[in-house]
Amino acid sequence: MIEICNLKKSINNKNILKDISFTIEEGDVFGIIGKSGSGKTTLLDCISGLKSYDSGSISIDGKEISKLNSSEVRSVRKNIGFIFQDFSLLKRRNVLDNIALPMKCWKLDKGLIKEKTLELATLVDLEDHCYKRPKELSGGQQQRVAIARALSLDPQYIICDEFTSALDPSTTNSILNLLMDIKKNSKLTIIVVTHDMNVAKKICNKVVVLEDGQIVDSGYTTDVFSKDSSAVRRLLGKEDDKNE
Ligand SMILES: Nc1ncnc2c1ncn2[C@@H]1O[C@H](COP(=O)(O)OP(=O)(O)O)[C@@H](O)[C@H]1O
Ligand SMILES: [Mg+2]
Repeated sequence: MIEICNLKKSINNKNILKDISFTIEEGDVFGIIGKSGSGKTTLLDCISGLKSYDSGSISIDGKEISKLNSSEVRSVRKNIGFIFQDFSLLKRRNVLDNIALPMKCWKLDKGLIKEKTLELATLVDLEDHCYKRPKELSGGQQQRVAIARALSLDPQYIICDEFTSALDPSTTNSILNLLMDIKKNSKLTIIVVTHDMNVAKKICNKVVVLEDGQIVDSGYTTDVFSKDSSAVRRLLGKEDDKNE
């Protein structure tokens, strides 16, 4: 469970996150949605211990992130798999090596790494592409490698930052289906950061809508979208946005 209470963060005297509070429960597919520049990535960086915050609290499974030492932060991060828009794969390494990377960093047993890597490559349907490098793969296949890598340390949490933004709609659909299949068979909690409302509608059970560093709407996804609030209308570009 991740609890965020009255979180505030400024960068260069600019308030980037303004009094943010919400709770993510085990098993949620939790959407953090908002336009570009609304503070989504900054919020994620605070949750994952990459960035400090000015006040308020973030606790993950009862541990306050700002009070942890660096090795404790490493343990928290070990329990989170990250998936990014640009896939963030090592260009010179093949599929198996990319998937195995976190396990090698944590110096797991070599036999176990080999077994697990193949298992994960199969899970994401890449068993016939194991020895290809990223440039030999499509965008969707590269994101599958990143998903397998994110799962390699059996994390409790997966954080996806705009992870479908570089993909076409049909590839996006297959990646979302894959993620939901994986989720079905586990207790994973998934945090999905996106500016794409269709992604949020398709997979998230709850969402918060971020606008200029503030939460302007939140709740169950179906409720948030069905009540057609002004926050959601702005997000969908239905209101006058002549300055955008
Ligand atoms: N290192 C930084 N220095 C100055 N401004 C920053 C920095 N990082 C983020 N910002 C500002 O914070 C705001 C939120 O950015 P970000 O969290 O990346 O938003 P999002 O992920 O929603 O696009 C933006 O206005 C951005 O310009
Ligand atoms: Mg971002």
